[in-house]
Amino acid sequence: MSYPKVALIAGASRGVGAAVARSLASHSDMRIMINYHQNQEAAKQLISEMETLRTQSGHVKDSQSPTFAAAQADITNRTEMTRLVQQTVEQMGRLDIVISNVGWTRMTDFMNLQAADNEEDWDRCFEVNVKSHFRLFRACQPHLESSEGTFIATASVAGVKPSGSSLPYAVTKAALIHLIKSLAIIAGPKIRVNSVAPGVLMTDWGKTFSPDKIQAVQDKNVLKRLATPEDVAEQIRFLAMNRSITGVNALIDAGFSL
Ligand SMILES: *[C@@H]1O[C@H](CO)[C@@H](O)[C@H](O)[C@H]1NC(C)=O
Ligand SMILES: *[C@@H]1O[C@H](CO)[C@@H](O)[C@H](O)[C@H]1NC(C)=O
Repeated sequence: MSYPKVALIAGASRGVGAAVARSLASHSDMRIMINYHQNQEAAKQLISEMETLRTQSGHVKDSQSPTFAAAQADITNRTEMTRLVQQTVEQMGRLDIVISNVGWTRMTDFMNLQAADNEEDWDRCFEVNVKSHFRLFRACQPHLESSEGTFIATASVAGVKPSGSSLPYAVTKAALIHLIKSLAIIAGPKIRVNSVAPGVLMTDWGKTFSPDKIQAVQDKNVLKRLATPEDVAEQIRFLAMNRSITGVNALIDAGFSL
């Protein structure tokens, strides 16, 4: 007897995380735990959207409950993150897919080294952009081993081509990509580990860039458009389903890094 798989999406109330939740709700029979930090209203709204999408999709309604659930936790806090993983496994009974979607930056001029010379920014970027992903992986590892599951982290094009919201951000996203490749080697053959690296997206995060900066990115992109959260979400879903891919960092940047 095979039960529907369970996905945990960390940082799901908005942006890429929410787009992944919609995509998995529409195109699979998975049960899904969405995690939010502060925005409970957005999480509730997303759950009801997912329920509508699932009904419309025609994917067989599973007999196990809950199909979708939301849980509050600050993923960067080890205690809360551990509790979230435990709660997911207790409520859903298993864990197959983990989307590690957490990031932090403080916007500075990338070319200004004086602005980059800030201890707190470096520490917080390492804490959130690298160590939080590692700790989440560690907490999920035994569950992903027994399900032969998969772990996917959200990196950034800034981790591939030096650019973006700040130097500490770009450097720690590069570290995250290396962490993911390392985990792929260490955790195989049972667990597949991949990352995606989006370019600038029109999420709440992307909207903190000035309109001039966004226009400049769009002009620089080979495809003369911005990548979308939906395209990133489809790439994540593909990585989650495909059993032949591990240790890959998939760029979805409309050609920015070329
Ligand atoms: C981490 O979370 C726990 C439980 O919610 C809380 O008591 C603690 O203060 C948090 N730690 C930090 C550094 O925020
Ligand atoms: C996995 O990826 C390979 C190569 O892109 C493709 O041929 C195959 O159809 C994919 N399998 C699934 C289940 O998506």
